Amino acid sequence: MNSQRGEWSSRIGFVLAAAGSAIGLGNIWKFPFEVGNHGGAAFVVVYLFFCFVLCFPVMVTEIAIGRKTNKNPVGAYKALGYKNWSIVGILGVLCGVIILSFYNVVAGWAFGYFLEMIIGNFAIGDQFGAFVSDWFQVGIFSAIFMGTTAFIVARGVSAGIERAAKILMPSLLVIMLFLVIYAFTLPNAMEGLKFYLVPDFSKISLKVMYSALGQAFFSLSLGMGALITYGSYLSSRENIVSSAALITLADVGIALIAGLMMFPLVFSQGIEPTGGAGLIFVTLPGVFQSLGPVLGVVIGSLFFLLLSFAALTSTVSLLEVPVSYAVDELGMKRKMAVWSIAGLIFVIGIPSLLANGASDFWSKFIELPGVGMTDFMTFIGYLANDSFLPLGGFLVSVFAAYVWKKNKLHEQIAIGQDHYAGSFVSKFIDVTVSIIAPIILGILFVLTVLNRFFGVDVI
Ligand code: TRP
Repeated sequence: MNSQRGEWSSRIGFVLAAAGSAIGLGNIWKFPFEVGNHGGAAFVVVYLFFCFVLCFPVMVTEIAIGRKTNKNPVGAYKALGYKNWSIVGILGVLCGVIILSFYNVVAGWAFGYFLEMIIGNFAIGDQFGAFVSDWFQVGIFSAIFMGTTAFIVARGVSAGIERAAKILMPSLLVIMLFLVIYAFTLPNAMEGLKFYLVPDFSKISLKVMYSALGQAFFSLSLGMGALITYGSYLSSRENIVSSAALITLADVGIALIAGLMMFPLVFSQGIEPTGGAGLIFVTLPGVFQSLGPVLGVVIGSLFFLLLSFAALTSTVSLLEVPVSYAVDELGMKRKMAVWSIAGLIFVIGIPSLLANGASDFWSKFIELPGVGMTDFMTFIGYLANDSFLPLGGFLVSVFAAYVWKKNKLHEQIAIGQDHYAGSFVSKFIDVTVSIIAPIILGILFVLTVLNRFFGVDVI
């Protein structure tokens, strides 16, 4: 049965593909601007806490459910005998569709910037607003991006997804380290580092907490069953705990490095760190320009190319979730499922394409009591990333601990590793999945919704 569904060719293949899913625009584009919007280092501290204490055990749980059942998120709950819970899987599949619909637009920006850097158009940083409001051009870039994603997913698990991740991830790391070193040599770099690394704990508020939580779930690709799906292709020889640890460390590591790169650059250019979604797109072209015409073009285009690749290994995982659902549950052929779902999601993404200045309606979509006037893309981001993902994490934890039951979860985790039973890690996972995660995720989910969508002042 497994041989037909596909399987990762090796543990490192799985880890790289899952890390490829985790590492993406969330780390390099979103993390720095979230830090900037939420007061700097204090946000980073809360974020790290959530990643390691809450998210890591949830990741182990998702992978275990996937490996146990060899199924997509909807089929997984059914396979364990809990048909009603498959609604959680359906929520996850829908969430993947929504996230991919706008993620692909931002990926289109990254790809477009790659082309601008090749022709040495460093002025594009100042024209970010005009660039993103040109819906036709961005639409073409996004269509190319979705097409490439579909092409990789259509090739299947090990030949497509795994091979791409193995080459691209390490290259990205090298180029970012180069930019970190360069950033440190610039004037005002220290101020940027201070903002990023010296926490002012009085800045921790409810908004900081739920934004950090949403960011952690988004960045680690948790809460919608992406890792149930990736876990479903994992062989039972492999160690889930150490794989999840590697994935988490890689993801957090890249986000932290992205911050080390961005804040010195932002401060050295005298740009406000609260620049929001435009932060890297406004800041970086000027930096590349300062490297001189040759080096600037080389480093600038490489950076945005690799950013596009990082986004690609993430869009691949987002598309894989609805595709695995359509293949397993609806009996569709893989190729057919891939291309029709990719096309559908592209269409669903059109409002996001228009939400950055092209159309007034989508750009001023809704007045949120907790936030103010909000464009459509930001709005569905709040909904999917900050609300549904933590909700999904809550539900998967409650399911694993109380419905499927802890002993079955631990039994599955223990396969493929020695000395799991009774270890510190097993106790930590136990307490988190059954107590800490349900409580914190449940509370923060409710408060997020009340605060952001109903304007209730909770703290
Ligand atoms: N984690 C990716 C990023 O940081 C985005 C992503 C891919 C994702 N797959 C996901 C987010 C599944 C949530 C769920 O860019």
